[in-house]
Amino acid sequence: MSNKLAILPGDGIGIEIVAEAVKVLNHLKANGLDIEMTEAPVGGAGYDAAGKPLPDETLALVKQSDAVLLGAVGGPQYEELPRELRPERGLLGLRSELGLFANLRPAILYPQLAEASSLKADVVAGLDIMIVRELTGGIYFGQPRGIRDKDNGEREGFNTLVYSESEVDRIARVAFDIAMKRGRRLCSVDKANVLEVSELWREVVTRAGSDYPEVELSHMYVDNAAMQLVKWPKQFDVMVTKNMFGDILSDAAAMLTGSIGMLPSASLDADGKGMYEPIHGSAPDIAGQGVANPLATILSVAMMLRYTFDRASMADAIEAAVGRVLDRGLRTPDIMAEGCEQVGTVEMGEAVLTELAA
Ligand code: IPM
Ligand code: MG
Repeated sequence: MSNKLAILPGDGIGIEIVAEAVKVLNHLKANGLDIEMTEAPVGGAGYDAAGKPLPDETLALVKQSDAVLLGAVGGPQYEELPRELRPERGLLGLRSELGLFANLRPAILYPQLAEASSLKADVVAGLDIMIVRELTGGIYFGQPRGIRDKDNGEREGFNTLVYSESEVDRIARVAFDIAMKRGRRLCSVDKANVLEVSELWREVVTRAGSDYPEVELSHMYVDNAAMQLVKWPKQFDVMVTKNMFGDILSDAAAMLTGSIGMLPSASLDADGKGMYEPIHGSAPDIAGQGVANPLATILSVAMMLRYTFDRASMADAIEAAVGRVLDRGLRTPDIMAEGCEQVGTVEMGEAVLTELAA
């Protein structure tokens, strides 16, 4: 039975970059990857097509699929919609409906792009961090939440930051397992000096760590972690943290690498089913111009092959092809540097295909 793959381009540049990744998938399909692809709208496109950011048909499709490839969601034309109809709700709905609690966000610096980082080359050369972000709990989903009227006539907004022991334990174990396959160092990031949630988080992560004696576990407050990430990022191997801290730290880590346009991500459930997406957004400012960098989406396909389809050699081949395209000096505007050749979305995608076929 072939593997079912849902293709959700979403909004903005999502449409252009996913098209390039689909070309790569078609190439792999012609070369022995048994997949069946079905496309569906999500985010603003879901709202336009069916009146909500996660249409019922899209939800049914992803539930039956083994993996999901997502572009990006969001755009200025949807910003005035009520919160529950906004594109971001489609993304959050996918995460929670599919139980994708483990978000893997690698921050890898391609040696060819060392100059693109805003940090000194020696600070970032060889950078390879994996941020493991909890994705279906914490303040993003905690109840109660809302905006309410106070007795004195003003309003107050409120959200709830809550984590149960089992939620912390399962994300900690994902992070420890990944650390075992890498440098065997795990840094758990929290705010245990202020938050009770973090106090419990730290306790549970430490307890899970007793099953991983070979992994060196450390703990860091999130403010310090933000500082250390820009000061000496190479001290980190794997980091594990709550939903919101992971959101923030992963953007910072991405920027260390010079371009957020290069970084893929995986969001996994307990059984290896996953949603794969570039970590950048829908970039409405450059949408439709054919200049967006498709490499993060193409590299997301590599992660999919590795984590859901168990085809590590195909994943290696994609990553190597991307490396060779960079060696040839091809650059989309976001990673453009002196002496390189600027190309658009389609040319970049075609170049990867050419290298892959070589
Ligand atoms: C991300 C994004 C999302 C998040 C938004 C679009 C809801 O910033 O994937 O990091 O906050 O999780
Ligand atoms: Mg984010």
